[in-house]
Amino acid sequence: MADTSFILPSDLKANYEAYREELRAAALRVLDSGWYIGGKELDVFEADFAAFAEAGHAVGVASGTDAIILALRACGVGPGDVVLTVSHTAVATVAAVELTGATAALVDIVPDTFGMDPQALRVACAALKDGHLGTLKAILPVHIYGHPVDIVAIRQIADEYGLALVEDCAQAHGARLNGQRVGTFGAFGTFSFYPTKNLGALGDGGAIVTNDAELASNVRLLKEYGWKERYVSHVAGMNSRLDPIQAALLGVKLKHLEAENAKRREIAARYDAALADTSLVLPTVAPGAEPVYHQYVVQHENREGLRLFLRERNIGSLIHYPVPVHQQPAYAGRIALPAGPLTITEAAAGRILSLPIHAQLTDEQFDRTVAAIRDWDASL
Ligand SMILES: Cc1ncc(COP(=O)(O)O)c(C=O)c1O
Repeated sequence: MADTSFILPSDLKANYEAYREELRAAALRVLDSGWYIGGKELDVFEADFAAFAEAGHAVGVASGTDAIILALRACGVGPGDVVLTVSHTAVATVAAVELTGATAALVDIVPDTFGMDPQALRVACAALKDGHLGTLKAILPVHIYGHPVDIVAIRQIADEYGLALVEDCAQAHGARLNGQRVGTFGAFGTFSFYPTKNLGALGDGGAIVTNDAELASNVRLLKEYGWKERYVSHVAGMNSRLDPIQAALLGVKLKHLEAENAKRREIAARYDAALADTSLVLPTVAPGAEPVYHQYVVQHENREGLRLFLRERNIGSLIHYPVPVHQQPAYAGRIALPAGPLTITEAAAGRILSLPIHAQLTDEQFDRTVAAIRDWDASL
């Protein structure tokens, strides 16, 4: 059987059969209900996810990419508009902006927590306000690695310029800043349920949260052909639905998410302590931030050396992401960088390494990783 450990909530791993039965029961409920699109399972999950996200409304959609497209479109973003985002992200963030027909413009990040730099954002807004690239419409920061960006400063700039604020929370289910859940600071928060995310489906899925009832109903229209009633399109929409079978499975996993996030935080604290006296630069936590450690990302000028050393010892590590979006073949040379070169982004790409972190990481795996890093560090 394939290794399913990455989908198992840790408190249930010891009892895999019970967990499997819960998922099986959820899947059978959908089968027996006869509702394979929409219906009660989806309604229940949307209500549960809204409660978890501490938002007024949640709308299930087909993926995290679609969540961004639909949120931007519901804010009125389309061809002729400009959306400011970052290059240090999954390519999906920038792809989603372009799929609305708008132009993406990218700004640099802060070096410690890797999120959008409010100073760079301010410079970019000033450079774009004459409209030479299009109408400046929205800001799309990314809570990368599960650490909240400086959303308060970013929101202030959005307000000054009258721009919509959409938070890409694909890696940050449950993170907080100053006690408030990410995804609730602007017009929309967008989430991905890609299987490896902190809350992952058994396939693709996503959700959009908002506190604004009108924006929520705009998204509901756009995600299903603009239908209020069947077969009558009030706006030109698309098909992007969260399948009830995924909603039912996600509902089972959602119950364990807080415990999973707590486990990730505990592992991060143990890495912090165990690696404090090495030459690695460890992740920092901004004041007021409560991250959920989708990734635990260290930095070192000899990142490649560390990566290869770990690989020789059969320890997996990953780079999120090795090539910033503005340097990828599909975007290089044509994407707007209105606040100038992305110096911090480019430097980070050469230094970052994601260490193993997930709620099922065993003590033995953790100890082996730490021992290997310490051996490598001692050999420098
Ligand atoms: C930051 C970020 N934004 C957007 C996405 C897109 O999500 P999905 O793969 O569900 O379309 C992802 C995940 O891949 C992501 O990590």
